[in-house]
Amino acid sequence: GIDLGKLLATTGYTTLDGGFMNTASTSSAITYIDGEKGILRYRGYPIDQLAEKSSFLEVSYLLIYGELPTEDQLADFTHRIQRHTMLHEDLKRFFDGFPRNAHPMPVLSSAVNALSAYYQDSLDPDDPHQVEVSTIRLLAKLPTIAAYAYKKSVGQPFLYPDNSNTLVENFLRMTFGFPAEPYEPDPEVVKALDMLLILHADHEQNCSTSTVRLVGSSDANLFTSISGGINALWGPLHGGANQAVLEMLDDIKASDLDVSEFIRKVKNKEEGVKLMGFGHRVYRNYDPRAAIVKKTAHDILDKLGARDELLDIAMKLEEAALTDDYFIERKLYPNVDFYTGLIYRAMGFPTRMFTVLFALGRLPGWIAHWREMHADPTTKIGRPRQIYTGYTERDYSEVSAR
Ligand code: ACO
Repeated sequence: GIDLGKLLATTGYTTLDGGFMNTASTSSAITYIDGEKGILRYRGYPIDQLAEKSSFLEVSYLLIYGELPTEDQLADFTHRIQRHTMLHEDLKRFFDGFPRNAHPMPVLSSAVNALSAYYQDSLDPDDPHQVEVSTIRLLAKLPTIAAYAYKKSVGQPFLYPDNSNTLVENFLRMTFGFPAEPYEPDPEVVKALDMLLILHADHEQNCSTSTVRLVGSSDANLFTSISGGINALWGPLHGGANQAVLEMLDDIKASDLDVSEFIRKVKNKEEGVKLMGFGHRVYRNYDPRAAIVKKTAHDILDKLGARDELLDIAMKLEEAALTDDYFIERKLYPNVDFYTGLIYRAMGFPTRMFTVLFALGRLPGWIAHWREMHADPTTKIGRPRQIYTGYTERDYSEVSAR
C-alpha cells in the first residue's frame, strides 16, 4: 500500500533514468513481456497461439476488454465496427490539402487528430459511453483513413468502404481497388495481413504507447491521444524501422556492397550506420514476433511467387550478425520489423506505407492502455521531474549592453 513515488517526492530526492531504462511508468494488466526468455503474451495468451488461431478483431477485443469475446460479443463488436467505417464527407476533403508526395504518416496522424473536430459527441474522457463510441470509431475509421492516405499519394480516387467485407478485406479493397471494378483480395494475403496486425497489436509501454498514455493523462480525448502515438511511432528507432529496413536492404543491393562489408561498417559505427530491424530495449533474445514473421515471409513470398533478392540479403545479414561477437555480446537479435517490410512489399504496398500498417495493428493496444489508465482512479497527470543543469541566478542586462 505504500506509494513509493509519493514518499520519495516528499524527501526531495529525484531519480534520473534517461530513456526509462529501469523505471516503470505505470502498472498494467494488458501485456506481459519477458525479454530474456523472448516471451510475449496479451492478457496471458501467448502470442504464437493468438497469431495462429485468432483474428485481429478478436485480439482487439481481448486487449481492450480483457477477455476473449463469446461468439455473440464478437459478432456485435464486428457489426458495430463495420457500421462506422465511413468518414464524414467534409473530412474526405481534408486529404486534398496535403501535397501528393506527403509521407502518409503525418497525413494519418493529422486525420486522426481531426476526428476530434468532426466527432465532438465522443470526446469526454470521463463518459464511458462516449469513450466506447470513440473506440469503435477509431477501430473502424483508421483503415479508411490509411487507405485514403495511400490513394491520395498515388492520385487515385477514394473508394467508399464496403461493409459486407471484413476489416482487412475492406482495407485492401480501398487501397488497391478501383471504383466500379470488382476486387477480390487474395485470401492468403488477407490471412497474412490479419496475422501481422495481431503481432503488432500491443507491446506494453513502448515509445508510442507511453506517448498515448502521457497525452491522455492530461484528460485529452482519445482521438488526440492516439494521434500523438502515431507521431511517436513514425520515428525510425520505433515503427519507422520497417521502412528503414527496406531502404537499408535496397541500398545494400544497389551499391553491390558485400554483406560482411556492411556488417563491418555497422560494428565500426561508420556514418552512424545501424543494422535496422535489429536490437530491442526489452528483448535480449530472439523477438518472438520476428520468428513468426520470418516464417511468414518465406511462405507468402513462395505463395505469391514473389522471389525477392532482398530476402536473401536479409537472411545473410541475420546469419552474419548472429554469429558475430559484436551482436552476441550486445544481445542484438532481429526484431519484428526485420522481415515485415519484405512481406508488405510482396503484397504490393509501397515502402512509405509500412509504418502506416504498423499503426493499424498497434491501434487496439493504444486504446486499451488509454482506457486502462482512465479506468484507474489513482491515475495522475504524467509529469516527470528533471535534473536542472543550467545557470544559477544571473541578472538581466539591457540589449545595448550585451
Ligand atoms: N545495430 C548496431 N548496433 C546496435 C543496434 C543496431 N540495430 N542496436 C543497438 N546497437 C548497439 C548500440 O550501438 C550499443 O552499442 P555500444 O554499447 O557499443 O554503445 C548497444 O547495442 C546498446 O544499444 P542501445 O542503443 O543503447 O539500446 P537501446 O535499448 O537504447 O535501443 C533500439 C534499442 C532503439 C531498438 C536499438 O536497438 C536500435 O536503434 N535498433 C535499430 C532500429 C530498430 O530496429 N528499431 C525497431 C525497434 S522495435 C519496434 O519499435 C517495433
